Amino acid sequence: MNDVLPDEMARWHLIERLFAEAARSYGFREIRTPIVEPTGLFVRTIGEATDVVEKEMYSFTHRDEALTLRPEATAGVARAYVEHRVHTLEPVTKWFCTGPMFRAEKPQRGRYRQFYQLDCEIFGDPGPGCDAELIDMLVGLFDQLKIPDVRVLVNSIGGAEARARYRDGLVAFLEPRREELSAESQRRLQTNPLRILDSKDPRDKVVVAEAPTIEQYLSDDDRAHFDGLVRALTALGVPFTIDPHLVRGLDYYTRTLFEIKGASAKLGAGDTLVGGGRYDNMIEELGGPKVPAIGFASGIERLIIASEATVPGAIVDAYIAPLGASAVEPALVLGRDLRREGVAVEVDSRGGSLKSQLRRANALSCGIALILGDSEVESGTVQVKDLAAHTQDSIARAEVVRFVSDRLKARSR
Ligand code: HAM
Repeated sequence: MNDVLPDEMARWHLIERLFAEAARSYGFREIRTPIVEPTGLFVRTIGEATDVVEKEMYSFTHRDEALTLRPEATAGVARAYVEHRVHTLEPVTKWFCTGPMFRAEKPQRGRYRQFYQLDCEIFGDPGPGCDAELIDMLVGLFDQLKIPDVRVLVNSIGGAEARARYRDGLVAFLEPRREELSAESQRRLQTNPLRILDSKDPRDKVVVAEAPTIEQYLSDDDRAHFDGLVRALTALGVPFTIDPHLVRGLDYYTRTLFEIKGASAKLGAGDTLVGGGRYDNMIEELGGPKVPAIGFASGIERLIIASEATVPGAIVDAYIAPLGASAVEPALVLGRDLRREGVAVEVDSRGGSLKSQLRRANALSCGIALILGDSEVESGTVQVKDLAAHTQDSIARAEVVRFVSDRLKARSR
């Protein structure tokens, strides 16, 4: 679990703002759900035999109630959709959220125990058009964030029937090769054989490379849905790869699955920036009507590492250096007047030499320093030092607020 220090916040804000703007431009509205939910919600939706539920949840009992810090957003958002009977209000619901998630994983670069996700969920649209739109939205966002080497992987895991048949087929293939698998995968053979496809163990990877893929088990409808996704992505001009071994670590998925990877040079093995997919049965399983759903989540910490976009470095726009005892109060008043015009200002009322104050102005990356000494107070002027343009002007006190805000506006254009 990490502290996010002020120097890093500009990049967090950039990512959160661009994500919210992108989501709103596709008709998503923001939702916030609690960080704590009943443990049973995650066990039922994510699945008992998944890494998240088996090993990674922060669960505790409080007054006989089993509770868990949310390991992901989807289950809580789907619970809110059912609880508020949102299907009676509108045929299609598009929600986004951001916030902290908790998984007791082995920490490494881009993998933490408290991490933040950007998340979108769509309820009521069976796709595949909206599936493709979600992916396209993310590719556009990652372009804005200047993330190098973005790769989209898609697959279909079919409906419940196809999945059950595939599970049998996979077990039939893996059982005779049991001895070649890792101990963990030998156990998974009974509990959750599909997870073996996702194993990082080199022994498992060799066996899995030869395993049958889901493709041949899909129903005609599943196949038509996937073909529709492929056509829509192609029409939108989104480059993608079909990865028949893509299964993902949560049990609730049906049909469309996708991952987006990027900036692998910096992220190494943890280069999955986005995981998402369809979960057409969850709403019904949570006691709601039969409503199809799809969504994705992206880890903000990974986007921070991956993004090469420049972020503004300035902490304040202007710095006021009062020199001499009579200048302190006029400096406080000037600072307040500037802030009312939307200029962020630091008034250094500690005093000190001009040199040391200007050094601090530079450390705050502000473009303008306002110098106010005894003689300026007396003559009703302010020295405006443009630290970027290396100019200095003596401006009448009555004009200085306009002068500074015009100068800053011209610069931001
Ligand atoms: P997920 O694949 O478990 O899916 O996580 C999605 C993304 O969250 C990952 O690709 C990664 O960027 C980030 N992430 C996951 N675990 C960590 C961690 N320990 N540290 C840092 N980042 C992490 C879900 O969570 C699903 N709820 C996605 C979804 C939404 N499917 C449908 N709707």
